[in-house]
Amino acid sequence: MIGRLNHVAIAVRDIGKAAAVYRDVFGAKVSAAVALPDHGVTTVFVTLPNAKIELLQPLGEGSPIAKFLERNPDGGMHHVCYEVDDIGAAGDALRAAGLRVLGDGAPKPGAHGKPVLFLHPKDFSGTLVELEQA
Ligand code: CO
Repeated sequence: MIGRLNHVAIAVRDIGKAAAVYRDVFGAKVSAAVALPDHGVTTVFVTLPNAKIELLQPLGEGSPIAKFLERNPDGGMHHVCYEVDDIGAAGDALRAAGLRVLGDGAPKPGAHGKPVLFLHPKDFSGTLVELEQA
């Protein structure tokens, strides 16, 4: 079921500062900041040869990463995203195995416009897992 690592997401307080380190010190390819009001975040993608780093800064009231940053004031690793060939089948297989798919369980468009699901951290060693349609 599981395919490539698509990205690792890091929650940050200051996305400009975080992006500058990747761009100016690491010399990585860094996107412009994109506001995603529907997701309650501003994102920057850092493209590495084998995967991406997704920097996330809270946007607006009730951002899904606001609480995470309260608990982790310096920022921190928020989730990992794996690609799957068939997101619908993956969700069904996970539920059949007794694992928890967050929300209503239906895939939703993610930060790249492809359908995604999020899986409960308690079922994955304390790590929030995102699945993205490859
Ligand atoms: Co993500």
